[in-house]
Amino acid sequence: MEVIILPSATEATLAGARIVARVVRESPHAVLGLATGETPERLYAELVRAHRQEGLDLSRVTTFNLDEHVGIDDAHPASYRRYMQEHLFRHVNLRPDRTHMPDGRAADLDAACAAYEDAIRAAGGIDLQLLGIGADGHIGFNEPTSSLASRTRVKTLTAATLEAIRARLPSGTEPPRHVITMGIGTILEAKRCVLLAFGERKAAAVAKMVEGPVTALVPASALQLHARTTVLVDEEAAGRLALADYYRDVQRNKPAWQRERDGS
Ligand code: GLP
Repeated sequence: MEVIILPSATEATLAGARIVARVVRESPHAVLGLATGETPERLYAELVRAHRQEGLDLSRVTTFNLDEHVGIDDAHPASYRRYMQEHLFRHVNLRPDRTHMPDGRAADLDAACAAYEDAIRAAGGIDLQLLGIGADGHIGFNEPTSSLASRTRVKTLTAATLEAIRARLPSGTEPPRHVITMGIGTILEAKRCVLLAFGERKAAAVAKMVEGPVTALVPASALQLHARTTVLVDEEAAGRLALADYYRDVQRNKPAWQRERDGS
């Protein structure tokens, strides 16, 4: 795992956006895996800026979001389709028929999950998967004890995750308990992963993900098995990393050809 510690969330966000923009410029038909939550909001804003001011062209890009709530429509404040519309989709030239979300309103949710896996496969797999991390170490909505081999399926949120979601919604709005999420096995098949984490609230989860044992209790630790994952953190989220000085040293001495290759 490559860990890049940056002085602020803004700098980490810009580094993440540069990686995404570069993948899209080099591969106009790129397949992007997208995440929601507070963490990637500014990254999407930066992509919108690059689209408007630098002509970043997303017209041939395909996207697959990690997860969606079950049983709500796009107008619901907890809807991730709504989030993506607000933060990215309606501001750029992505083709609506190429923006995929798990179908949380399907009559047959199992069939919808299988169809999502099929659609990812048919698109040629995910080139770059963006990720955040929950304070309990979840990725997507793969809560602790999720199978490390899991595929897209229905999950039940923990009380703590529900509370974190509720805190971002208008008061009195109750988020659904059930979600569809890409599995950990699905995420591990992405060719490249970029995970962002900011703030002290994420520090324990980041340390367990990077330096702890690979365990279903910390779903993000499965990324230790992924050959090309970059973790972009601010100083606060890096606060509990035992080898932080080593990661800084690696970045200071990163060969120019690697910087060029990685766009970081
Ligand atoms: C939700 C999302 C995750 C996200 C996590 C952290 O659970 N399903 O994809 O990483 O929240 O959210 P935030 O970035 O708001 O801290």
